[in-house]
Amino acid sequence: MKDGEDETTNGEVSISFELSRVDLDRVHGWLSREAYWSPGLDRAVFERAVANSLVASAFVDGGQVAFARVVTDRATYAWLCDVFVAEAARGRGVGQRLVAALIAHPDLQGLRRWSLRSRDAHGFYQRFGFTSVTAPERFMERHNPQAGATRLDGPSLSRDLS
Ligand SMILES: CC(C)(COP(=O)(O)OP(=O)(O)OC[C@H]1O[C@@H](n2cnc3c(N)ncnc32)[C@H](O)[C@@H]1OP(=O)(O)O)[C@@H](O)C(=O)NCCC(=O)NCCS
Repeated sequence: MKDGEDETTNGEVSISFELSRVDLDRVHGWLSREAYWSPGLDRAVFERAVANSLVASAFVDGGQVAFARVVTDRATYAWLCDVFVAEAARGRGVGQRLVAALIAHPDLQGLRRWSLRSRDAHGFYQRFGFTSVTAPERFMERHNPQAGATRLDGPSLSRDLS
């Protein structure tokens, strides 16, 4: 299944994997102004990330109400990130449907590992089989907390990138 061909509907919420359906202005607004992990997210960096990810969007009455993306080789590994449901749409199952749709995506079956980072939504992801890292001593990272932000001063310096 290719991006752009797959859409499922269930009641009033529809899920799409189509890159061209992402409301870039709206999602960039969420991630750069509301999400705790990416304040000041640079627009060009955001668009490059979207273009190179497997994305999922949720729509109600044609308007985007949620977004998530997966960075993946579509063979062994997937990194789930930028999971965001518009405040007014939370608590109605949209986030669960979005994550479930990504986990069920045909290109993401049989992967050896999925990863994510979360400050406080562990319980939300546990229902999909995510657990704490079992051997943290085996994981390493090369982290530049200032990368990807337009504003390189103020709050973005201390932001907790997801
Ligand atoms: C976290 C988030 C994606 C959940 O989406 P949502 O559409 O509100 O969640 P749903 O309605 O699909 O699921 C609700 C269920 O998940 C649980 N849940 C929601 N947010 C949770 C959280 N932060 N921690 C633990 N459980 C959570 C609810 O308790 C509820 O459980 P229930 O079904 O037993 O009642 C959404 O609140 C959000 O976008 N928050 C702001 C951005 C964010 O923190 N994103 C996650 C970054 S890791």
